[in-house]
Amino acid sequence: MNTPPAILSAIPRRLHLQPDHPLAITRQLIESRFPDYKSYNDLFPVVTTNQNFDSLGFPDDHIGRSRTDTYYLNKDTVLRTHTSAHQADTFRKNETAGYLISADVYRRDAIDRSHYPVFHQMEGARTWDRDQVPAGKTLAQVIWDDVAKIPKHDINVEDPNPTFHPARNPLQDTHSAEEVEALAAHLKRSLEDVVVAIFTAARTATATATATLDTPSASSEPLRVRWVEAYFPFTSPSWELEVFWRGAWLEVLGSGIVQHSILRNAGVPNRLGWAFGLGLERIAMLLYSIPDIRLFWSTDPRFLTQFAAAAPMARFVPFSKYPACVKDVSFWLRAPSSSNSSSSSNSAAGGNTSSSAGPPPASHAGQQPAFHENDVMEIARDVCGDVVEDVRLVDEFVHPQTARTSLCYRTNYRSLGRTLTNDETNELHERFRQQLVEKLGVELR
Ligand code: PHE
Repeated sequence: MNTPPAILSAIPRRLHLQPDHPLAITRQLIESRFPDYKSYNDLFPVVTTNQNFDSLGFPDDHIGRSRTDTYYLNKDTVLRTHTSAHQADTFRKNETAGYLISADVYRRDAIDRSHYPVFHQMEGARTWDRDQVPAGKTLAQVIWDDVAKIPKHDINVEDPNPTFHPARNPLQDTHSAEEVEALAAHLKRSLEDVVVAIFTAARTATATATATLDTPSASSEPLRVRWVEAYFPFTSPSWELEVFWRGAWLEVLGSGIVQHSILRNAGVPNRLGWAFGLGLERIAMLLYSIPDIRLFWSTDPRFLTQFAAAAPMARFVPFSKYPACVKDVSFWLRAPSSSNSSSSSNSAAGGNTSSSAGPPPASHAGQQPAFHENDVMEIARDVCGDVVEDVRLVDEFVHPQTARTSLCYRTNYRSLGRTLTNDETNELHERFRQQLVEKLGVELR
């Protein structure tokens, strides 16, 4: 068990179901692009390690399984780290050709304006039945007929890679190349349609902002998206979809052709199809220009009354102008170490458990337990709650004689609702420092 009470208390919030909450509105906007898909929005977050990892083909030593990344309730029960945890069960139910799952997911991770240990994902999948192909047609033709039913938009799509890469993105031996070309086309056209809906809405919202905040010219340029090769243990081939937004490529989702073993194990060996997963916060943040992920948890009417499903989308007007208070803590780790300390970073769906890309998380081998940056993050959250806005490593060095590592973390304290007093921040920071000593065995400098 490594799940603190503050995390457990998020379970009943169900922000994605709260009427007029920006996450719920974002969910509905995407659902509206999949009218024939069945939505499951009520699945309980406590799942087995089998559901979250094994059923999806995660290797035993995958970093996502570690206690530094995942909240365990006991050795084989976790808070789901992604909505893919429900893929196998949903395929097994076999109620519908297409489904969407929206839910809260839980990950130990860095603290900053775009990372919070609880966030929301939407999973989607569409499968076809090999045994229900009309006479005279191939399955690939049936899928292509369905592709033609999806709205096609006039956007700028970069998709330079062949569908398969023999080493990195192989064709599964249960599939033919024709089938997967058709599935890939259906997946891509469906998700491009979603992205057009999202970014059209985001531009409308942006256009309502004052001219000084945004460059109005950006709104008239055609949307640019690109498909890039990706890796997930439960899809092959796999892709991420990126969108060019405000001058940079932004990862929006992860997707791919469902590994046939999942469908076979789920008792539907005759089906094949695709799946995707995306992070709702990231999309809601850009739809409404919400600057800090903690705001989604706010119960302040100044936040909640700014959103309405029925109203046109408008840019969020910040109400917290309270100052930040910055404090550093420096400490020695106990044992010599040499590894790097970059923080684990979230991928497409907020995805550090599934993507192979990205830097390895900070981990300093030494006396047990090994130091992991996520433990620092968790102590900060535990002690300071939502008053901690950002924690980051600002300095690291190894002492030439003793070979000990020294780290310095900078903590930003800021309340979204009021000005923190000096005494209050000092007291929080002191508790944070003491907990680092008690829980991690570091030596303060
Ligand atoms: N579960 C993946 C993540 O959390 C996203 C994903 C879903 C990728 C379905 C492919 C298919 O990053």
